[in-house]
Amino acid sequence: MPNIAVLNGRLMPLSRAMVSVEDRGYTFGDGVYEVVRVYRGAPFLLREHLERFTRSAEAIGLPLTPPPAGWERWVKQAITASRYDEAKIYFSFTRGVAPREHAFPVSPKPTRLITVRPLAPPSPASHDPHRGVRVVTMPDLRWGRCDIKSLNLLPNILAKQAAKQRGAFEAVLVRPGVGVTEGASSNVFAVLRDGTVRTPPAGPTILTGVTREAVIAVARRGGVTVVEAPLDLDTVGAAAELFLTGTLTEIAPITRWDDRVVGDGRPGPVTRRLMEQFLAWIEARLAAVSSGRSAVRSRRR
Ligand code: PDD
Repeated sequence: MPNIAVLNGRLMPLSRAMVSVEDRGYTFGDGVYEVVRVYRGAPFLLREHLERFTRSAEAIGLPLTPPPAGWERWVKQAITASRYDEAKIYFSFTRGVAPREHAFPVSPKPTRLITVRPLAPPSPASHDPHRGVRVVTMPDLRWGRCDIKSLNLLPNILAKQAAKQRGAFEAVLVRPGVGVTEGASSNVFAVLRDGTVRTPPAGPTILTGVTREAVIAVARRGGVTVVEAPLDLDTVGAAAELFLTGTLTEIAPITRWDDRVVGDGRPGPVTRRLMEQFLAWIEARLAAVSSGRSAVRSRRR
């Protein structure tokens, strides 16, 4: 099956998708992006990702065009053409091709890109409840608007690469006076000794993850108290369990934090239960989507 792109509304093999070297996404990282997971042919939480995409685009002074419904159509066309059941969709929206001047072009013509690539399920880090991942802490060197899902990811990729070189799955970023913010491409949660779950609050120091929101809702529905409050290193040091969330990470238990073994070195009970509940919630949503699809099909017949 081919890897597919939709570039400015045109569907094509990914290998044929080309953008000018003068695109501001290339020269300045002047654009925003999203990553969406496809489970069994269905883009998961697409509406939520498109809402954040719209907010990010507005925040950089580049209102999203076409509106989300247009992107949704392209995403579905691309998945259908790829015929992938399990896939990763990337989409970006840049300020387009223009001579290199820092200030915005007078009439920007944005570049709109969607790509679809296959993904092998399930990701072992998140689905094997007997395993966990190792994280290492790094200074958070990013800017003051981490809530915008911007293409400028240099501090994130440098942190991720340093983590990889140290044999860790993720870099957890720490900002002086703030505490733990998030991972290089994930959000961070702690389970305190009293069973409360704590995660850093939404705001300019983190990307408000779509998975973070979903996991908070699933946990609360299951009777867990979730507090969105700063996470300092002392709280992390005293936590019973720690885990990461993200579109591709789903929920990954953290069993090593720098040189410290978390708990007994295995994913803890609260994280394991949340993983089960999260997977059950994904299944339920997929079942609802597919019964919606068959209802539409039978109405059309
Ligand atoms: N990143 N924080 C950061 C800095 C991220 O880059 C991501 C996701 C998250 C988790 O957000 P979500 O649950 O919406 O995926 C948090 C994507 C997957 C990426 O850049 O590849």
